Amino acid sequence: MNAAPAVEAIDLVKHFDGTRAVDGVSFVVPEGSVLGLLGPNGAGKTTLVRMLTTLSVPTSGTGRVAGFDVVRQPTEVRRSLGLTGQAATVDEILTGRENLKLIGSLYGLPRKYVREATERLFARFDLLDAADRMAKTYSGGMRRRLDLAVSLLAAPPILFLDEPTTGLDPQSRSGLWAVLRELVSEGTTLVLTTQYLEEADQLADEIVVVDKGRVIAAGTPTQLKDQAGRASVVVTLTHAADLERAAELMSSCSQEVHVERGSRRLTAQAGGLGDMTRIAAVFETSGIELDDLGLARPSLDDVFLHLTGRRADAENASNPSTEGVAS
Ligand SMILES: Nc1ncnc2c1ncn2[C@@H]1O[C@H](COP(=O)(O)OP(=O)(O)OP(=O)(O)O)[C@@H](O)[C@H]1O
Ligand SMILES: [Mg+2]
Repeated sequence: MNAAPAVEAIDLVKHFDGTRAVDGVSFVVPEGSVLGLLGPNGAGKTTLVRMLTTLSVPTSGTGRVAGFDVVRQPTEVRRSLGLTGQAATVDEILTGRENLKLIGSLYGLPRKYVREATERLFARFDLLDAADRMAKTYSGGMRRRLDLAVSLLAAPPILFLDEPTTGLDPQSRSGLWAVLRELVSEGTTLVLTTQYLEEADQLADEIVVVDKGRVIAAGTPTQLKDQAGRASVVVTLTHAADLERAAELMSSCSQEVHVERGSRRLTAQAGGLGDMTRIAAVFETSGIELDDLGLARPSLDDVFLHLTGRRADAENASNPSTEGVAS
């Protein structure tokens, strides 16, 4: 049993001339858990991963992986980890299968293991049909998946993934999440960087939000969402013509009602389920037809907006999850 945390960053700093890419970042990743490093472009995510995976020497501070110091014990660190970088590293003129065979022999893995693992990984990543084609004929998403298969081949106990699902379609993305969850349930420690709030929410036990080289927030997804404010009741009307009357009705239950002009939606600040039930009851007797009524908690996107005053990524712009539909 290794008592040391799987990964530790202690006041890590990396300066490039004039740029404080990473400016004093600390976190701890317990064995078998998932840390999500969340932040916008240029936040310092890749630089952090590069320091922890021995690809870049910290200006100051300490990094440890599996208890080994990234500067003084780089060989031991490398032996403990797998890394998939932001840019695909597959060999273009080899086929998919040959790419895994090559990595297998570089790592000195038994051939039988490599053959079986290749089949398993290619099946998981939907690459079996393309396995014997040269990688240069692969689409961007296929390369990404091959790259992941390569980094998973040696089944490293600690895996760093730098924006693993960037450029993947939604189906491949959720396929990859499933694979990652499986690995974690088998004991792998995972550090992943992402710009996608949903991804961090789905996978991470702990999230560290970085911006401009610094940690601006840290906690579980739920803790972060709780910081962003209270829940709200979201009502979607069947007919836009009812907006004014609906707003009046909701105002009798909540101090703060917001009408989304140009849509059929209204939101009211709420303390919890009690407020939702009261609003539902008011509508029940009003004769106003509703498409939907539910309680929305702040999304991670709201968290980011709350912390930085701007949206983290336009693509995932707020889609608050709605619970307790009662219409
Ligand atoms: N080799 C380098 N030389 C000079 N500046 C660098 C170098 N690598 C990164 N930077 C700068 O450090 C900052 C952090 O970059 P980094 O790549 O770590 O961000 P990131 O969070 O990974 O962004 P992205 O989401 O775009 O991948 C940026 O301002 C970047 O321009
Ligand atoms: Mg990056």
